Amino acid sequence: MNFSEELKKRTEEIEGILERYLPREEGFQRTVLEAMNYSVRAGGKRLRPMLMAESYRLFGGSGPVVEPFMAAMEMIHTYSLVHDDLPAMDNDEYRRGRKTTHVAYGEAMGILAGDALLNYAYETALTAFDTAPGNAGIPRALKILARKAGIWGMVGGQSVDVESEGQPLSREKLDFIYSLKTGALIEASMMIGAVLAGASEEDVQRIGQVASDVGLAFQIQDDILDVTSTVEVLGKPIHSDEKNNKTTYVTLEGLEKASQDVEEISARALRTLGSTGRENTFLEELIRYLISREK
Ligand code: IPE
Ligand code: IPE
Ligand code: MG
Ligand code: MG
Ligand code: MG
Repeated sequence: MNFSEELKKRTEEIEGILERYLPREEGFQRTVLEAMNYSVRAGGKRLRPMLMAESYRLFGGSGPVVEPFMAAMEMIHTYSLVHDDLPAMDNDEYRRGRKTTHVAYGEAMGILAGDALLNYAYETALTAFDTAPGNAGIPRALKILARKAGIWGMVGGQSVDVESEGQPLSREKLDFIYSLKTGALIEASMMIGAVLAGASEEDVQRIGQVASDVGLAFQIQDDILDVTSTVEVLGKPIHSDEKNNKTTYVTLEGLEKASQDVEEISARALRTLGSTGRENTFLEELIRYLISREK
């Protein structure tokens, strides 16, 4: 398998799925619809829908029931970025290689486009009942999506993250923030893929553990790149964490240990993945690739 070709192919497939679910820009509320589509169409790695699809495949899933959930997940992730960049939060003006949504459309539209993406994500996920009326996993997948996006997941993590700005943080609290603000949506992605494929409860928990480690390694690498990358490669500003006086994995542990830990945590994810007794070579390669990702 040529990994980079496969990655490109799968990313393009996801782009196609997303495009099918994006709302049409019409009516008096056209501006907010444009702002929603502007932020989703800006690109991005599409990692969460990709992990969802690969987890679905891993457990033998086939058929389109996963697609509305893939689109919904990317909408929720994108809304989290739109709000994360707002002046009241990280105050960043560049994302996915273009101006952030609030810079392009104004702050009010930035807030509303985020709200709209969140709500539209659920409208989209609910269409799974029409896509595959017989799939018994849909209610469970919806529960996971709702819980991990909200106060017990991403929103909860973001809240503690902003509240902690400018303050020293213990590793325990930093780990809590990372597992929620970044880990939760990645966990939800892989767990939903498994649930829709009809995986056993034990396997759903196992894949959740894999995803929790993938998420932690992913956020540590994000902190590293905020220090070591460039705005051209990253498509978003560097030194955003320093600007906001954030305690990060890098400020706590140093660059070298942070890189080592990304490797170790990813290796642990791969071992847990192996314990499912199932094989998905692309998924394994993807987890390995993320260790040295440059954006
Ligand atoms: C950025 O996520 C926010 C974090 C959780 C670190 P991604 O790095 O997946 O952003 P996109 O989707 O590729 O733009
Ligand atoms: C944000 O973490 C995680 C989210 C839930 C959006 P960061 O604030 O570090 O993400 P970036 O670096 O702006 O993408
Ligand atoms: Mg942030
Ligand atoms: Mg940010
Ligand atoms: Mg960051």
